[in-house]
Parts: sequence; C-alpha cells; structure tokens
Amino acid sequence: MSKILVTGGAGFIGSHACVELLDSGYEVVVIDNLSNSSKESLNRVEEITGKKVKFYEGDIADVELMEKIFNENDIFAVMHFAGLKAVGESTKKPLEYYKNNISGSILMCEVMRNHNVKNLIFSSSATVYGEPKVVPITEDCPKGQCTNPYGWTKSMLEQIFMDIQKADEEWNIILLRYFNPIGAHKSGRIGEDPNGIPNNLMPYITKVATGELPKLNIFGDDYNTKDGTGVRDYIHVVDLARGHVDALKKIEENPGIEIYNLGTGTGYSVLDVVKNFEKANNLTIPYEIAPRRPGDIDASYADPSKAKRELGWEAQYNIEQMCLDSWNWQKNNPNGYK
Ligand code: NAD
Ligand code: UFG
Repeated sequence: MSKILVTGGAGFIGSHACVELLDSGYEVVVIDNLSNSSKESLNRVEEITGKKVKFYEGDIADVELMEKIFNENDIFAVMHFAGLKAVGESTKKPLEYYKNNISGSILMCEVMRNHNVKNLIFSSSATVYGEPKVVPITEDCPKGQCTNPYGWTKSMLEQIFMDIQKADEEWNIILLRYFNPIGAHKSGRIGEDPNGIPNNLMPYITKVATGELPKLNIFGDDYNTKDGTGVRDYIHVVDLARGHVDALKKIEENPGIEIYNLGTGTGYSVLDVVKNFEKANNLTIPYEIAPRRPGDIDASYADPSKAKRELGWEAQYNIEQMCLDSWNWQKNNPNGYK
C-alpha cells in the first residue's frame, strides 16, 4: 500500500485530504508544526475514517526530522500543504513568509531527492494569476503580478518546482491552483478553524451567525460585477480534497509537470454568498458596505475543464451544500478545536 506524506496535514485542507486519502486506501503520514492548527483535527480524521494517521509534530525545515520520517516510512509521494497563508499578515512579515514557505519547501525537496522520492503535489493558488485579463481563467492564462508576499511565495514556488522538474525528469510534480475553498466534512467534525478574527469571507459569515461578530463588512460594492461586490469561485473543501486523490492517480502515470485549476467554474458575488447562506441555514446575516480591501480584484473564477479532461475530476457540491456544511461545522464547534 502506498504511503503518502501530507505536510500541513492538521490544517483545514490537509485534514480533509487525509480523510479522502484514507478512504481511498492510502496510508497517511503527517508532518505539521501546529503553527496554525491543532492535533485534535487528526484525532477526528481517525474517528471519521476508522483508520490511523502517523503523526510527526515538527517543521518541514527541520532536516533531521524530515530525514527520520523518510527513513522510517516508505513514502511514495508528498502532498505539500504546509505553509503560512494569511495575506494581510504576509505584508507585515514578508521575511517570515518567504522563509517558512520557500526555504521550508526547498529543504523538503532536498530530503525528498536524498530518498529518491520525486512525486509531489503542491497547494498553489489562483492568486498566481494576479488580476486576470479574462474570466473564466484557464491554466494557459499568463501568471500575473501578486499583490502580497503570500501570493509571491506561491508564484515563486511554482517556478522553483518547474525548474527542479525540468532539470531532472524523474520528478513528477502537479501544481494545483485552488480557487476559494469553503465548506467542511459532512460529519461536522473537521473544518476551518482560523486564529482570531477571520480574514476570509465564509469563516467571517459563520462567526456572525454564531453571534461572536456583530456584522459582516462587505468590502466594496463598486466592483465591475453584476451587483458591485467581488465575485469568486467557491469550492467545497471535500471536492478539493478529492481532486488531490485524482492528482495522485495521475502521478502514478509519470506525467512530469502539470498544472490544474481546482474550482467549480461558477462565480458568486459576496451578496450571492450571503443570500445563499441565509437561505440554506434559515438565518439572517447583518451586513454593511465597507471600503474596498487593498489588493482585491473584481472577479476570479476557473475554467476547470482541464482537470475534468485529464484527471476525471469535477466539483460535485453546490453553493447550498457549501453553506450548509460550513455552518454545520461552526455551530457544532463554535470554538473550533479548542
Ligand atoms: P492551514 O493553515 O489550515 O494549513 C496549513 C498547515 O501547515 C497548518 O496546519 C500549519 O500548522 C502547517 N504549517 C505551516 N508551516 C509549516 C511548517 N513550516 N512546517 C510544518 N507545518 C507547517 O491552511 P489551509 O487553508 O489548509 O491551506 C493549505 C495550503 O493550501 C496552504 O499552502 C495554503 O497556502 C494553500 N491554499 C489555501 C487556500 C485557502 O483559501 N484556504 C487557497 C489557495 C491555496
Ligand atoms: N470579503 C468581504 N468581507 C470579508 C471578507 C471577504 O467582503 O470580511 C470579500 C472580499 O472582498 C472578496 C470575497 O469576499 O471579494 C472573498 O474574499 P476572501 O478573503 O474569502 O478570499 P480571496 O479571494 O480574497 O482570497 C482567497 C484566499 C487567498 C488566495 C485567493 C486566491 O484567502 O489565500 O483566495 O486563491 F490566494
């Protein structure tokens, strides 16, 4: 049975990927330094799947620990979720972001190479497209200017991985460009658990729904969209996690380097999301129009047809299910894993 090393596996997307991997018959080894997560998420992954996760607490930049993990486990591929991801924080702590995300990934690749493990799936982001010239966005759209250091770490890491694969064709590397992951596992046992006040739309809405925050601030209603609020491609985290298992099957075919957008192909405005959340959950979300947030763009949504064609993957869950599952997680865990 193939063993998969999941870096950042205790986090939001990583924990959902662990469930899908275990349910698909893979063995899972996780490394996470718990800088933005809790070990409890992995207990719950075990509870959901009835299977064990082998957990190493530590940093991907800890070469000694990474050597130990590769010595103790026959790893087939690495799913690389570990990274810092707060856009605003990255503008204040660029050095920390470049060090953690880029240096960490480089050290990890060196250990992988030492052990002749050259299969990698990387969590990239639609942010690498910058301000897209046209929507929907295909993988052929040129990359753009990122508006923050976090985005640049994704863009630069993509380039680094491409260069590594170009120089040594034994590497198989799949870059997955996520659009906006929301939702949670249907059990309501795992989900997104941000520290402090959430930056992203859906966790903010669910905190308004619990009463922890008084109202949603909608950042701008004068964008060039149907109702003036920003349009994004929200994707259910379970669909996203399934996409990783499909990418892993592709890796088994030795594809070299490939890039896939993971999105639904449908854009929803901020007001659409609020209305869908209210309708699905029979709740009212008070909101107010606030100034634009620096760095935000009008609209971003995927053309996901390459993933369908080449991975046989497409999103199954609609916005209603995303809203139901986000709320199911939050209402059952008002304090997240704490
Ligand atoms: P998350 O913060 O919940 O998960 C990341 C995990 O990595 C955390 O558990 C954290 O403790 C761990 N980690 C961070 N640095 C580490 C290090 N140096 N060594 C070991 N562990 C480390 O975030 P997420 O939303 O699950 O995102 C997972 C990945 O997907 C990230 O790389 C993120 O940038 C990327 N991504 C996320 C989104 C999104 O909207 N959530 C969108 C596009 C891309
Ligand atoms: N928004 C609000 N109020 C809030 C939060 C968000 O109106 O309190 C709006 C934003 O202005 C935007 C939309 O909701 O129009 C979505 O915002 P998010 O912060 O949820 O998501 P972004 O599209 O800005 O960014 C996300 C991830 C990034 C990633 C990017 C592209 O947070 O890490 O998608 O993949 F880079």
